[in-house]
Parts: sequence; C-alpha cells; structure tokens
Amino acid sequence: MIAENLFQQMPKIIGHRGACGHAPENTLASLRKAAELNTRFVEIDVTLTQDSVAVIQHDSDVRRCTNGRGPILLKSLEEVRTLDAGSWFGPEFGGERIPTLKEAIDVIGELGQGLNLEIKPTVGWQIPTAERVAEELLVHWPEEIPLLISSFAVECLIEVRRYLPDVPLGYLTSAIPPDWERRMAEYDCASLHCERHYVTKDHIKAIRDAGFRVLVYTVNDPEEAKKLLDWGADAVITDFPDRMFPLLEG
Ligand code: G3P
Ligand code: MG
Repeated sequence: MIAENLFQQMPKIIGHRGACGHAPENTLASLRKAAELNTRFVEIDVTLTQDSVAVIQHDSDVRRCTNGRGPILLKSLEEVRTLDAGSWFGPEFGGERIPTLKEAIDVIGELGQGLNLEIKPTVGWQIPTAERVAEELLVHWPEEIPLLISSFAVECLIEVRRYLPDVPLGYLTSAIPPDWERRMAEYDCASLHCERHYVTKDHIKAIRDAGFRVLVYTVNDPEEAKKLLDWGADAVITDFPDRMFPLLEG
C-alpha cells in the first residue's frame, strides 16, 4: 500500500504493543484487547528467534515479559513457545505465548486492524532480522491491510526497502535529530516517530510542512494527546487507547 493510502486510513490513536496498559504487551490477547477498545491501528515489535522465526517481542531478553530468562536470539521457536508471556501481567493471562509474526498477522486480519510493525533487532542482528521479517511479510501480509514499518535501526529500514519497495517506512527516534530531513530522504521514510518529551510544536510544523507525517509515543495522558494532535501530529501511540477516545471525540 502506498503511503498516501495508508495515512488516509490511519486513525489518530494507535495502540502501543497492542493495548499494553490492559493486557500483556505484544501478545494476541493485547491485540484482541485493543480491538475490544475500538482501536483500529496497533503498534507491535518484531524480532528473531535462533531459528530465524519472526516473533512479537520487545526486549532482546525474555526475562521481563515471560517466566523464562535469556536472549531470545539464542532460543529456538520451540523453546520460546514453552514460555508463559501472560502471567507476569495478570493471572487471567496465564498461558499467553509469544506470538509468531504470522499468528499476529492472522489475528490483525481477523480484527480488521492496521499495523505499525516496529523491527526490534537484537543489536548486531539488524540485517538478518529485517531480511527475515521482510520475507515473511512478502508471503503473509494481505495487501489490503494498512502496514507501516518502523525501526530505530536504520540498517533495518534500508534492508526492508530492498525487499518491499512500496511499503511506507517510519523513521523511529527518541529525540529528533537536527538533520531529520536529510535522514528521512536518505532512508525513504514517509513518517517520523518520536518520543513525546522531545517534540515541539515547531518540529511538528516543520516536519508536516516538509510533507512528512508525525507520530508521537508513548502518550498516555489524554490532555497531552490533544495538545499534540492540535499541534498537527498525525497520531499518538498509547498504552491506553480507551483513555484517549472520550477527549478526542468530545
Ligand atoms: O514504535 C514506538 C515505540 O514503541 C518505540 O519504543 O521501546 O516502546 O518499542 P518502544
Ligand atoms: Mg515499539
């Protein structure tokens, strides 16, 4: 899908790691929770297992979000699938697994959501991660579903572009670098995704005036979301999509 079509379909509220304020991040339960809260677009993180399967996981170590420990890149899919990725969040989520990208795609399709897929490689594994993710997307991604790929790792953006010439790319950063415009052009990005503390009204205006979109993460205060959207941000990425809707609709 070309960038213009994607952004026409992208709502102002994007669920972070699904709806990770309400369900264990980056699980199928989190995607379903987001949908239940009427979130039409979600952000999730993708990384690789030892046997090069793309799975939905934020950290390079499984310790924080499962009952296991150790680097995910040193675990096979079979090992990863034995981990409980839900109980740490709440007993009612016991038995949630780290999903594969394929499983997440199937559920996103079923729920009718759009996706901001953040490629989160283990440091040093940027190229293999992007390559594998792109290969899986080529096989499994339904063309009609909106997809925006982002990464802090520019090697991933470059690599993905080689495989997927039309997919919109997001330049993901914390602070906005002074030479953002050159970087956006160099990595062929349509949007800039930045951390909420660093973004100003002037940034948003300049980036929008240059023809790019702006997404801000992680915004959990509805007043702040309203301010950012009033400044011209295209979307905010939030752990609590439900908190945002009343203010934005009012
Ligand atoms: O993609 C936006 C945001 O998710 C980036 O930071 O650490 O939450 O993946 P992080
Ligand atoms: Mg992320």
